[in-house]
Amino acid sequence: MQSLQGRVVVVTGAGSGIGRALALGFAARGSKIVVADVQDDARRETVALLEAGGSEALGVEVDVSSADSVEALAAATIERFGEVHVVCNNAGVGGGGLIKDQQLVDWKWVVDVNLWGVIHGVHFFLPHLRAAEEAHIMATSSVAGLTSTPGLGPYNAAKFGVVGLMETLFHEMERDTESNVGVSVLCPGVVRTNIITAQRNRPAHLKRERKGGSVGDDARRRNANVAAALAERGMDPADVATCVIDASLERRFWVLSHPEHLAEIEHRNQSLHALTNPTLTGSFTDGD
Ligand SMILES: NC(=O)c1ccc[n+]([C@@H]2O[C@H](COP(=O)([O-])OP(=O)(O)OC[C@H]3O[C@@H](n4cnc5c(N)ncnc54)[C@H](O)[C@@H]3O)[C@@H](O)[C@H]2O)c1
Repeated sequence: MQSLQGRVVVVTGAGSGIGRALALGFAARGSKIVVADVQDDARRETVALLEAGGSEALGVEVDVSSADSVEALAAATIERFGEVHVVCNNAGVGGGGLIKDQQLVDWKWVVDVNLWGVIHGVHFFLPHLRAAEEAHIMATSSVAGLTSTPGLGPYNAAKFGVVGLMETLFHEMERDTESNVGVSVLCPGVVRTNIITAQRNRPAHLKRERKGGSVGDDARRRNANVAAALAERGMDPADVATCVIDASLERRFWVLSHPEHLAEIEHRNQSLHALTNPTLTGSFTDGD
């Protein structure tokens, strides 16, 4: 993008965390924001923050796991603004636990929101972005989309899928002579957000069946570890948003807000290159 002044920017998951920071960051550069989120109070709060800062904002209720809902989001954006220039497919949920302990509803919820949410965003917004004079589309993956930490099976699978989808789209848009769409993928490490309470937005029909105490204890311990990491060393979401905004202006694909993870990404890629079995780096111990 040459400029973000007066541009129309859609952010999913804009009610909290990285999404709210993206909304505020793009607004600070003069963009009009579509605040899309499944959580009503959080969405309204972001709209109020934007309006208090003098920005134009439209709040839209969306469940990114639903094709109809994302199609309606695209329609509402075009109805209000007539065009769209930047789409941030950012909404996501976290869920941990060893694969042997996962229930199918765990897979369904995490993959539906984190991977299908991005597929829906790409599918319904790409025609509008391709029609714009210049445009940008990004998706929020994670370091978990580039490394396979145990205890995050559904999350890793969805986030690897997001990297593959966006990298393919990058190649295709580079070769698309009839449009001008930049593509980025954001792969953050730990960021200080509300992801630890992601279960707040889990639909009733995808709740876990309760089965004995040990899995619950394990999940509670894992949650406590993640919560401590978020509080102690989580990056400020505003800094992550700046990385994304700079990438959209410079038309950069990879957005690694936490370059300290490059060594473990490289370690994983080396085992692929050498065709040796994967090993872990760092402080992972069984059950972490
Ligand atoms: N926080 C981290 O450490 C971290 C690290 C790597 C990647 N991420 C990714 O960043 C993205 C944003 O998460 P966050 O950390 O800001 O968490 P967050 O919980 O603070 O914000 C996520 C937002 O997404 C919304 N959301 C949840 N389900 C939705 C749905 N079905 N449809 C629409 N909106 C929905 C929530 O209401 C919330 O406002 C996610 O994709 C997450 O996987 C986070």
